[in-house]
Amino acid sequence: MEKPKIYMSDIHLEDYTEQYEGKKATADTMVFDGGRKRDLLNGQWQYAVDQYDTCLRQQWFKEKHFDENGYTLPVDYSFDEWPVMQLPCCWNTLEEKFLLYDGSMVFTRKFSYRAKEKETVVLKVGAANYLCRVFVNGTYIGMHRGGSTPAYFNLTDSLKADNRIMLVVDSTRRETQVPTENTDWFNYGGVYRDIELIYLPEIYIKNFQIELAPDGTFSRIQAKVELSEKVSGKARIAIEELGVQSQILIEDGVGTAVMDGRPELWTPDTPKLYEVKVSYGEDSVSDNVGFREIKVENGEILLNGKPVFLRGISCHEESVENGKGLTETERIENIMLAKQLGCNFMRIAHYPHNERMARLADKMGIMLWEEIPVYWAIRFEREKTYQDAENQLRELMRRDYNRASVIVWSVGNENADTDERLKFMGGLAQCAHREGGNRLVSAACLVDSEKNMISDRLTEYLDVIGLNEYCGWYTPDFEKLPQLMANSRPEKPVIITEFGADALAGHHGTITDKGTEECQAYVYERQIQTLRDIDYIKGMTPWILYDFRCPRRTSSIQKYYNRKGLLSEDKKYKKMAFYVLQKFYQELGKEEKNQA
Ligand code: GCU
Repeated sequence: MEKPKIYMSDIHLEDYTEQYEGKKATADTMVFDGGRKRDLLNGQWQYAVDQYDTCLRQQWFKEKHFDENGYTLPVDYSFDEWPVMQLPCCWNTLEEKFLLYDGSMVFTRKFSYRAKEKETVVLKVGAANYLCRVFVNGTYIGMHRGGSTPAYFNLTDSLKADNRIMLVVDSTRRETQVPTENTDWFNYGGVYRDIELIYLPEIYIKNFQIELAPDGTFSRIQAKVELSEKVSGKARIAIEELGVQSQILIEDGVGTAVMDGRPELWTPDTPKLYEVKVSYGEDSVSDNVGFREIKVENGEILLNGKPVFLRGISCHEESVENGKGLTETERIENIMLAKQLGCNFMRIAHYPHNERMARLADKMGIMLWEEIPVYWAIRFEREKTYQDAENQLRELMRRDYNRASVIVWSVGNENADTDERLKFMGGLAQCAHREGGNRLVSAACLVDSEKNMISDRLTEYLDVIGLNEYCGWYTPDFEKLPQLMANSRPEKPVIITEFGADALAGHHGTITDKGTEECQAYVYERQIQTLRDIDYIKGMTPWILYDFRCPRRTSSIQKYYNRKGLLSEDKKYKKMAFYVLQKFYQELGKEEKNQA
């Protein structure tokens, strides 16, 4: 029998988390899950608010506690009598008493499983913010670090006919994490994306990547398969609508094939998707994929070889009602609003949104900028923090690799240009170039305010330069903007990733009254007046589509919301600035059509 745990020792055990650092879920433990058999574990979970992490300290998941003489000890939990919470959700928007809770909660439920010969069972947690530890039938399964990317855990060896699963989720903000404890958005906690059991054969397709072959012919398709074991053989791939039937030779667990195929190219106006099926041995997966090429050439951003101006808008992943746990309807509404604005592009900031967002963008036709939350003052000198950031980037890229709509990987936002930051984010940009497929690598950089120009050393590592500038809002005069543009001579395309101003919906006054719709609209007019004539600017994603919760914003017009939205936080009210930007984008859209 295992050495009895001295029960009271937990109250002196300040390094209690050490035992939960192993068996990490990372980009390398991810499983390709398109078209697979699965069961949802969404629904009613018992829960407890665990402010002092007592579950981890006392190892509640073991469900039996005894002293050195084998005496059964009293316990401080009763799983089956705990209240229930409907998962996935953000606990903050569920009940008033949880709104401002940053900390740990314990979730548990039972489920049955009928074992099948040689079956592998993987738990997928779509996202849990920020630390997620997993226990099944009294055993520690593993942990995931990162609040916006999926985690996969192999449960096969721990399953019985009747099982208890436990998730301990800790939303505490920490300076060593990514993001740190200080951001300009609300820190929603919980398991807020789907929880699933995914069923796989013993040897399965672990990763599948498909895209136009990078040869500029638009008539060859490249597919890569990675298996769960280093075996050799043949995988089969079919894209029926393209008449593609081919084999992929697998050596030592991996294989790549380039096939003839001239797909209708994906664009926001023609979001054509093809069903792709791949099989190997007992395993088969599928995906719905668009084929397109994005690249930078001679200072232009080229989509399928044609120059494109990215008419964008920034957008957080949140709603008043559901926090970061958006419904499909809310995601669709956000894309429809962006299209109403005249957008062909969205900067879904500052962290990976739900994977459904990229799938909807593929289908509805809008290009995306996706970003990891390397935001403001990250602990750039800390190796473990780098590993955390790089893992979140690699998880995002593996998750969305086959999404045609995703044209930009952004490695962060608004970070001071220091040597440590350059090493840290330069490393991330190189990782994105290595593993990110046919996409542009960027970051939202700060203006060099002393020189009033773009001079961020990180731009060396980027394909396109994102620039946040708030002329007319955080900096007083608009005259600085034309000067900033004239002082800067970037060799690469620039996307103005943020400009804007706060305005409370329905609050009116003069163009100089900060917080009024007139003032916000005037900032948009003056910004557009300058930016529209700068030839190296190839896109913009003003800040932001709609107002969002923000603990840092307490003025009488903000009331804990950032009011830079073009719509109110419930998206029911369009402010004057919405129509200023819409008019500009409609003009650009017409010019584009005339040039086509
Ligand atoms: C910054 C930051 C945003 C923030 C915005 C603002 O540029 O990137 O996250 O919300 O400014 O100040 O409103």
